[in-house]
Amino acid sequence: MEKIHIPVLLKETIESLNIKPDGFYIDCTLGDGGHSFEIYKRLNKEGILLSIDQDQHAIDFVNKYYQKYIGANWKVTKSNFTKVDSLLAKYDRKPDGILMDLGISSRQLEDSHGRGFSYLEDSEPLDMRMDENLGVKAKDLLVVLSEKDLTTIFLKYGEERYARKIAHAIKENITNINTVGDLTRLVYRVMPVARQSSKNPSRRVFQALRIVVNDELNSLSEGLDKSFEILNSKGRMCVISFHSLEDRIVKDFFNNLVESGKGLAFTKKIIAPTDQEVRDNPRSASAKLRSIEKI
Ligand SMILES: C[S@@+](CC[C@H](N)C(=O)[O-])C[C@H]1O[C@@H](n2cnc3c(N)ncnc32)[C@H](O)[C@@H]1O
Repeated sequence: MEKIHIPVLLKETIESLNIKPDGFYIDCTLGDGGHSFEIYKRLNKEGILLSIDQDQHAIDFVNKYYQKYIGANWKVTKSNFTKVDSLLAKYDRKPDGILMDLGISSRQLEDSHGRGFSYLEDSEPLDMRMDENLGVKAKDLLVVLSEKDLTTIFLKYGEERYARKIAHAIKENITNINTVGDLTRLVYRVMPVARQSSKNPSRRVFQALRIVVNDELNSLSEGLDKSFEILNSKGRMCVISFHSLEDRIVKDFFNNLVESGKGLAFTKKIIAPTDQEVRDNPRSASAKLRSIEKI
């Protein structure tokens, strides 16, 4: 049986979406389709699920893996969730629930089609584009940005303490940095001994580059705005984030909606995985689910 991405906080997300069998749902981050399929199973013939992903490989995987289900009331489309509003033109109704399960899937890490998302894939090129139509790859950033700008990126998007040292070493050795392994070995060399033995010294640098290549934080703000705008009254929006930069954007956005009387916080503010889920799926450890209902 094919190994697929394990959906995080699945039961909690489905409960929060409060799915009506004849409702209209949008999954903005299809991935391997785990959350989408759980939504789809709860719909009747009048219900609609629209699942989108910016990664063509995710779309191709789901179209094949779930082929007997996709069709009449489960639509799968390649798109960035910043364009979610324009996708609605084809429907004469507003969504009753919208889900965003942010970041990257296990498949993108482990079967990246040569895009080097994971710091473990030594021989892959430094690309990191989820949507291969995007113009700038991770390696381009290393070449084009100044040492100062690289430092800023590693600090801001990776919260990396050794940002300046790493940026300096990258610019000094730029002609020798082409693969994931070239970058992880360089980061390892400039780290103090204590950090070299940490889980992976390059984790923060990789996160920072991926965020910039895919413009993840601006897309999140835009996607949240547009999603809430198109949501039906009493519709629900659920967002799963995996690091503090994402979570801060979601938290501020939801808090503003509650304070301005546009949104209702119907669950406790944050739902985190149980100890059992973290044991079963260590990748869920940093997940946080936040939900809101449109008034
Ligand atoms: C954590 S995975 C989702 C996993 C999915 N819930 C499942 O159960 O398999 C995140 C997915 O969102 C996609 N993604 C990230 N940012 C996106 C964006 N701005 N627009 C559309 N898709 C995006 C990624 O390509 C990735 O496939």
